[in-house]
Amino acid sequence: MIDLRSDTVTKPTPAMRRAMADAEVGDDVFSEDPTVNRLQETAAALFEKEAAIFMPTGSMGNQIAVKLHTSPGDEVLIEERGHIFNYEMGTPALVSGVTIRPLRSANPNGILSWSDIQPSLHINQPYYACPTGLICLENSHNLAGGSVINGADTASICDKAHENGLPVHLDGARIFNASVATGESVAELSRPADSVQFCLSKGLGAPVGSMLIGSKDFIDEARVWRKRMGGGMRQSGVLAAAGLVALEESPTKLAVDHEHARRLAGAAAELPGVSIDAGMVQTNIVIISVSEAKLTSFEICDLLKNEGVLAIPFGSAIRMVTHYDISGDDIDTAISALQEIID
Ligand SMILES: Cc1ncc(COP(=O)(O)O)c(C=O)c1O
Repeated sequence: MIDLRSDTVTKPTPAMRRAMADAEVGDDVFSEDPTVNRLQETAAALFEKEAAIFMPTGSMGNQIAVKLHTSPGDEVLIEERGHIFNYEMGTPALVSGVTIRPLRSANPNGILSWSDIQPSLHINQPYYACPTGLICLENSHNLAGGSVINGADTASICDKAHENGLPVHLDGARIFNASVATGESVAELSRPADSVQFCLSKGLGAPVGSMLIGSKDFIDEARVWRKRMGGGMRQSGVLAAAGLVALEESPTKLAVDHEHARRLAGAAAELPGVSIDAGMVQTNIVIISVSEAKLTSFEICDLLKNEGVLAIPFGSAIRMVTHYDISGDDIDTAISALQEIID
């Protein structure tokens, strides 16, 4: 099967498997796992922030950030297609007692600017308005087709947020893809944000894990919340070892994934009833709207499966995500299958 459903389907590389087998481990609840400690130090240094903590998932990293930045009764502002709002199962309400105000970006690529955010702020307003507690950004923006926000635009939102006394959390699940697309380092892309989460288990290819990064005090508190939520792990160096290899070997492979995504998008754009602006595909995510096609997204995905190609229906669109287990030949096969089914 050519699995384009997500970049989470990657299998660990031989180097990751070797590192996992050989990992030096200890009890991480006592902060005694040398490999986890090394991963945390490596991630903090890479992002040029004070500290980092290994999380089992990106969702846990994001939700602990929401918890730490807000007080119950606050409102969180996020673009309407943001992962924290759409796919984290209401956890902001459940765990943090906050509401979410989804915002529409003036730009179809889902990237917010301050003019999209400012009218929704509740700061020093009458007591019956839900106070804004946090702004969340996402880079790259998954549901918006993997679009990216550069360091300068991130900084301009963060500066305004800070002037208003608001923290900013960056969901950087795929920030390494954004780094390749913009040519800016992950530190440049995330420097002005108060916290950032990135996933080792997506395009970087590690089997499990994400990192939450921020100030030392913030990460000390995050450790308490990770334990409270059942995320205190023991000999997790076995997992962290793969994460260290992922940080070393994977970022340089992402440009190929982006080229594959552009090729897929370019070919899809030629098909009848399909709409996709191939020029807007900046990273490894291709969202193809098939609302005008003869078949529904579900029917197309079923037929693709018969041809050995897996994609995900998203309403009236299908999503295809490239990753290092997808070759150039696989892209050719996926394009031929799409042409055969949609023509
Ligand atoms: C943008 C974004 N943020 C966060 C997550 C959550 O990561 P996890 O699946 O590790 O909880 C995902 C997962 O797909 C994502 O795409």
